[in-house]
Amino acid sequence: MAPGWALARVGPGRWADLRLTSTVSRRPWSHRHVLDLAAFSRDDYATVLDLAGRFAALPSTGQRRLPALQGRLVTTLFFEPSTRTRSSFELAARRLSADVQSFSPATSALVKGESLLDTALTYVAMGSDLLVVRHACAQVPAALAATLERRGQRVAVLNAGDGLHSHPSQGLLDLFTLARHFAGGDPPTPEVLAGRRIVIVGDVLHSRVARSNLWALTACGADVVLCGPPSLLPQAFAEFVAAPPPGQPLDPVARRGRVQVERSLERALPGADAVMALRLQKERMRQNLITSLDAYHRQFGLSHERLDLCGAAVPLLHPGPVNRGVELSGPLLDDGSRSLVEEQVRNGIPMRMALLYLLAASEDGPA
Ligand code: NCD
Repeated sequence: MAPGWALARVGPGRWADLRLTSTVSRRPWSHRHVLDLAAFSRDDYATVLDLAGRFAALPSTGQRRLPALQGRLVTTLFFEPSTRTRSSFELAARRLSADVQSFSPATSALVKGESLLDTALTYVAMGSDLLVVRHACAQVPAALAATLERRGQRVAVLNAGDGLHSHPSQGLLDLFTLARHFAGGDPPTPEVLAGRRIVIVGDVLHSRVARSNLWALTACGADVVLCGPPSLLPQAFAEFVAAPPPGQPLDPVARRGRVQVERSLERALPGADAVMALRLQKERMRQNLITSLDAYHRQFGLSHERLDLCGAAVPLLHPGPVNRGVELSGPLLDDGSRSLVEEQVRNGIPMRMALLYLLAASEDGPA
C-alpha cells in the first residue's frame, strides 16, 4: 500500500481519520469539480481506484462511519429521476460523516418558478460544500460550477449525469468493478485494464454512461468494441476519444486504447474480456429507432448462449436500470457467477466516497 491514505485501524471496529489535506497533497489531484472524465489523467484514475479500494476494504458492519467529512454539507440536486446514483451518493456522504440534504424538484420552489441557479444558491447559502447535480440537459452541472466560481463560492460540483453527455461517477464505478475483477485479490490499478477487450452493446447514442466509460477505459489502455445498430450507434463513435471535447485544449492521456464499432455481436464478442450492456433509453428516443423490443433482444440481447461466444466465462456489466428480457435475459441477470450488476451497485458507494473525499480535500486547498 502506498503511504498517504491514512486508513489505519486503531482498535477493534475503529478507524483513524483520513487526514484530508496532508494525505491528498501527496497525490496529484487538481480537480475542483468532477464534471467529465475527459479531463482525467492516468494519475487521477490511479488515485480514485486506490482510494475507492481502501474504502471498499473497510468492514461493512459495526463502525461504518469515517469522520473525514464531519461538519461538511453535501446536497443532492437531482432534476431527473434516480434510484442508484442518488442513494449511493447519500450513503457515501453519510459514511464519511457529512450532513446530507436532498432536494426533490416536484416538492420544491422550482414549481413556483424559482430558477435552477437560485435553487442552487439557496443551498449554498445554507452552507452546502458539495453539490451533486443531475439534470436532463447536458452541461448544466458545468455551467453551474462556472457560475458559482464566478460568484466566488468555494462549493464543489459533482456531475451525477447530465443529458447524454457524461456520468463520471458511473464510469468510475464501472472501471473500479472491472479493475477489481481483473486484479483478483490485488489492489485495483489502471494497469490491469491495459490490452483488455471490453464490449459495450446497446443504445450508445443515448448513453452518458457509455461516453464516460469510453474516456475511462481507453485512458487505462483498454480497447473498447461498441456494438449496436446504426440507429443507436452512429459510426462516428469510433472517433469519440480521438480529440478532447470542445473547451478542453489538451487530452491529459498520452496514449489511449482503441475504439471500434461492430454491427453484430457474433463479430464483437469473440475474445472479449468483459461485456457491458446498456439500457434502451426509450424516454430519450424522439422516434422509433428499433423495430420491436423482441427483434432487438434477438439481435443485441445477451443471454448465457450469447456470452459463450466470448470463448471464456467473462463478466457481464449493466449500469441499471435493466429492461429485463430486452438487454439481458432474466436468467443471465440473476446469475451471480456471471453478472457483476449487483457488484457495480455495491462498488458505487466506495467510489462515491472517494470522489466526495477528494473534492472535500481539494476545497481545503494545499496543505
Ligand atoms: C444510468 C443513467 O441514469 O444515466 N443509470 C445510472 O445512473 N445507473 C443509465 C440509464 O439510465 O440507463
